[in-house]
Amino acid sequence: MTEPLVLGIETSCDETGVGVVRGHTLLADALASSVDEHARFGGVVPEVASRAHLEAIVPTMERALKEAGVTLADVDAIAVTAGPGLAGALLVGVAAAKGYALAAEKPIYGVNHLAAHVAVDTLEHGPLPEPAIALLVSGGHSSLLEVDDLATGVTPLGATIDDAAGEAFDKVARLLGMPFPGGPPIDRAAREGDPGAIPFPRGLTAPKDLAAHRFDFSFSGLKTAVARWVEARERLGEPVPVADVAASFQEAVCDVLVTKAVDACRDRGIETLVIGGGVAANSRLRALAEERCARRGITVRAPRPKLCTDNGAMVAALGAHLVARGVAPSRLDLPADSAMPL
Ligand code: KG4
Ligand code: ZN
Repeated sequence: MTEPLVLGIETSCDETGVGVVRGHTLLADALASSVDEHARFGGVVPEVASRAHLEAIVPTMERALKEAGVTLADVDAIAVTAGPGLAGALLVGVAAAKGYALAAEKPIYGVNHLAAHVAVDTLEHGPLPEPAIALLVSGGHSSLLEVDDLATGVTPLGATIDDAAGEAFDKVARLLGMPFPGGPPIDRAAREGDPGAIPFPRGLTAPKDLAAHRFDFSFSGLKTAVARWVEARERLGEPVPVADVAASFQEAVCDVLVTKAVDACRDRGIETLVIGGGVAANSRLRALAEERCARRGITVRAPRPKLCTDNGAMVAALGAHLVARGVAPSRLDLPADSAMPL
């Protein structure tokens, strides 16, 4: 079989994404975001996201097909994020995918959003060496995964026990008066600051925590520590050194993420680390992972920042992988599952 032509639909959060790939080649990545509508609330509002997906799904689909220079009749399969994510938002994508699959008589693949964040890297760097460790960090998730087989064998090693890493970036940015989403402005501000200026806590790294939470994360204590530190300065009437706070906070997050990811690679004897999710766009996280992994003979793979955040191409990439591996399609009555396990 020539490489499969697969269309992928993503609507699990605030991005309506439709991507088209042929095997590992990206042909189109159309995106409509409702992020500006959520900005004034400081976070994604589920009902607003669902309505925005409804309005955007058909035009985004048309844009992707046009950009790829194909018609729906040409594609071999339609993949769609079936979970995890916001229930109403997921339903829009799943219903649309079913409609298109039924109308064009195409097989449909309901895929896991987290596995798709890992799969997207194949569009940049080709097939993923298996096994690999995946560090998945976004606004909704912070997980370490062991990827024995991208199609059928992705196992969680650990996850956040409270806030996701991206959520921490968003909350700290708000505290510092920066816009939502907070990752990019913190990343920019941190470049002017001293990452060692303030010793913010590294969650779940103390020996007593490691016993039960070796590969888990916790960012809510860090967020509170930043809030307390800023409040204390304000109470004293002293200016808040925004760049230093941003850099020190970012360093605390990245230090923990990279330490635990490297530990997982060493524990499992695995030499490939793939980083995905919106926070994988962070410049310090990428640099620190490169630096620490190089010392230990671990290869780091991270897709270009645009592919790290939610998009349809990642869903298409996983769909193409499933088709190529001969995995059976989903049933046409597949449900959307907001808490879908891996
Ligand atoms: O993967 P994604 O687009 O959506 C979810 O599945 O959540 O991730 C969005 C998250 C947001 O919290 C945003 O602040 C964060 O990714 N983010 C970043 C950067 N770019 C986006 N965090 C840190 N540094 C960045 N450069
Ligand atoms: Zn995501």
